[in-house]
Amino acid sequence: LRSVLAFIPRLWSNWISLLGAVLTTVSALAIILLAAVGISRAGLESYTVAFLVMFLPALFVVGLLLIPVGLWWERKRNPGQTEDPVAQAFVRALQDKQARGRIVFVAAATFLNVLILAVAGEKAVSHMNSPGFCGTACHTVMQPEWEAYNRSPHSRVKCVDCHIGPGASWAVKSKVDGLRQVWGVMTDHFRRPIPTPVEELRPSRDTCEQCHWPAKFHGTRVALFPHYLPDEANTPSFNAVLLKVGGQNPRTGRHEGIHWHVSPEVEIRYEVLDRERRKIGKIAVLEHGKVVEEYKRSDGDGTSLGTRVMDCVDCHNRPTHIYDGSPQDAVDHALYAGVLDTSVPHLAKVAAEALANPGIRKDHAQEDIRKALEDGFKRAGAPVPAAPVLDGSAQALAGLYSRNNYPAMSVTWNTYRSHLGHQDTQDQFGCFRCHGGLHEGTFKGDRAPRLSQDCDLCHTVLANEENPEKFDDTLKTLLSSRP
Ligand code: HEC
Ligand code: HEC
Ligand code: HEC
Ligand code: HEC
Ligand code: HEC
Repeated sequence: LRSVLAFIPRLWSNWISLLGAVLTTVSALAIILLAAVGISRAGLESYTVAFLVMFLPALFVVGLLLIPVGLWWERKRNPGQTEDPVAQAFVRALQDKQARGRIVFVAAATFLNVLILAVAGEKAVSHMNSPGFCGTACHTVMQPEWEAYNRSPHSRVKCVDCHIGPGASWAVKSKVDGLRQVWGVMTDHFRRPIPTPVEELRPSRDTCEQCHWPAKFHGTRVALFPHYLPDEANTPSFNAVLLKVGGQNPRTGRHEGIHWHVSPEVEIRYEVLDRERRKIGKIAVLEHGKVVEEYKRSDGDGTSLGTRVMDCVDCHNRPTHIYDGSPQDAVDHALYAGVLDTSVPHLAKVAAEALANPGIRKDHAQEDIRKALEDGFKRAGAPVPAAPVLDGSAQALAGLYSRNNYPAMSVTWNTYRSHLGHQDTQDQFGCFRCHGGLHEGTFKGDRAPRLSQDCDLCHTVLANEENPEKFDDTLKTLLSSRP
C-alpha cells in the first residue's frame, strides 16, 4: 500500500498527468453516476444526454492517455535518467518489492479503467445505434423522419443500417459527425428543413445491398394510382401501369428493365448541377468500366458541382421517410382506402383544398380543418354534411396533415419529394430528370439509345384515367389479388 501511495504524488509532478488524472476521474464518476441513475431518467434535456453519451467516454480516454504522456514528458525534461526507463522499471520490479507493488497497482487501475470504458463504451454505442436514440434524442429535429420511418416498410431496420452501414471507419466518422450535429442542435445552428439529399450518405452498395440483391429479378409489377375528379360525384379516374422493374432475368441471364441501372456490370455517372440533384448534366453509361454512351444536356450545361455514381437512392430516395406527395395525393389515397367517404358530394375537391390551407395550426389541426371543410362545402354550393361525417372527415384529414407537416422544422407537403415516378418535364423530378427529353446521345455506336421518354420503356399503361368499374376482367383480377 505504501508503494501505491508513493505513486500517486507522481501524478501531481507535472500538469499534463494531473490534468489527465482529473479528467479521467471526473468523467469516470460522471459515467458511473449516469449509469446508476439511468441515463434517460437523469432529468436532463434529451440532447444534453446525447451529448454526454458521446462526450464522456471520449473525455475519459483523453484523460487516460494524458497520464503516460505527462510522465514521459517529465522524464524527457529530466535528463538525469540515461537508461531506458521501461527496462529499468522491469529490472527493478524483479528485485524490488516496492516497485512490484506499483506495477500491480498500475495494472489493476488500468484493468479497472478498461473495464469502465468497455462497459460505458458498449452501453453508449448500442444506445447511440438504436433507432430510438437517433429518432428521439433531438426530438423536434428528427420528428418528421422518425414518424415517417415508423410507419414504413423499414420500421424494423435500424437507422444505422442505412445511414452508416458496416465497418469501423464509417462508424467513427458517423460518431464525429454526430457530435458535431448534436452540438449544432444545442447551440441552435442547424438547417430547417434538414437538407436533402444527404450529401455524405454512404453508397448503397454498402447499405441497401447488404439486404437487397441488385440482380434479384423483380419482373413486372402492377401499380395502381387511384385519383378522384373534383366533381360532385368524386368520380374515380384511375391509372394503372405494369412496371418493368426487371433485374437479372433468370431465363436469359440478361439485366433488363428499370433495375438495369444498378446491374453489376453497369455504372451510370452523372454531373450534378445543383445541390438537390434535380438538374442533371452530362451522363455517362459504363459497361465493365468502359464508357459506351454519353449524353449531353441540350439546353446548355450549368456548372458542375461534381460527379455522382447512380445508385438505389437516386430513385428510392424515400424508402423509409415516406410522405404523401401533394394534399390531393393524400386525399385520393384516403378516399381509396375508405378513410374518407366517396359518397359525400364534392368531398374530393373540398378535402384537398382544406388540407392545402396554409393557415392550419398543427396543434389545432382538426378544429381548423373542420372549419375549412365547412367553408369549402359552402363555397362549392354543396350541402354541409352532418356533424358526424364532418367530424370524421376532419379527424382523418388532421391525421394526414400531421404526418406531412412539421412547422418547427419547416417541413410541409413535398418538402421531401419522391423520385420514383415522373411529373411533367418542366418539373425535373424523378425519372424525367434524365428521361425528360433534354439529354442527347453523343456516341453513334450500334447500341440503340435507351435514355428516352417512350412510355413503353418503363411500363405498359393498363388503364389511363378510367373508372375502375369499367376495368376489364384481367385487370380487375390482378388488382384484387394485390395485398
Ligand atoms: C431503409 C433505409 C433507411 C433507414 C432505416 C433510415 N433512413 Fe434516414 N434516409 C434514408 C435515405 C435513402 C435518405 C435520403 C437520402 C437522400 O436522398 O440522399 C434518408 C434521409 C434522412 C434524413 C435527411 C432528411 C430526408 O428525409 O431526406 C434524416 C434526418 C434521416 N434520414 C434520419 C433517419 C433516422 C433518425 C432514422 C431512424 C429512426 C433513419 N433515418 C432510418 C434511408 C434510411
Ligand atoms: C437491414 C436490411 C435492409 C436494409 C439495409 C434495407 N432494406 Fe429495404 N427492405 C428490407 C426488408 C426486410 C423489406 C421488406 C419489408 C416488408 O415487406 O415488410 C424491405 C423492403 C424494401 C422495398 C419495398 C418497399 C415496399 O413498398 O414494399 C424497397 C423499395 C426497399 N426495401 C429499398 C431499400 C433501399 C433503397 C435501401 C437502402 C437505402 C434499403 N431498402 C435498405 C430490408 C432492408
Ligand atoms: C432507375 C430507378 C431505380 C433504381 C436505380 C433502383 N430502383 Fe428499385 N425500383 C424502382 C421502381 C420504379 C420500382 C417499382 C416501384 C413501385 O412498385 O412502385 C422499384 C422496386 C424495388 C423494390 C420492390 C420490388 C417489388 O417487388 O415490390 C425493391 C426491393 C427495390 N426496388 C430495391 C432496389 C435496390 C436495393 C436498388 C439498388 C441496388 C434499387 N432498387 C435501384 C426504381 C429503381
Ligand atoms: C441519372 C439519370 C437517370 C435517371 C434519374 C433515370 N434513368 Fe433510366 N436510364 C438512364 C440512362 C443513361 C439509360 C441508358 C441509356 C442507354 O442505354 O443508352 C437509362 C435507361 C433506362 C431504361 C432501359 C433499360 C434497359 O433495359 O436497357 C429504363 C427502363 C429506365 N431507364 C427507367 C428509368 C426509370 C423508371 C427511372 C425513374 C424511376 C429512371 N430510369 C431514372 C439514366 C437515368
Ligand atoms: C423513364 C421511365 C418512364 C417513362 C419513360 C414513362 N414513365 Fe410513366 N411511370 C414511370 C414510373 C416509375 C411510374 C410509377 C411511379 C410510382 O411508382 O409512383 C410511372 C407512373 C405513370 C402513371 C401513373 C401516375 C399517376 O400518378 O397516376 C402514368 C399515368 C404514367 N406513368 C404515364 C406515362 C406516359 C403517358 C408516358 C409517356 C409519355 C410515361 N408514363 C413515360 C416511369 C416512366
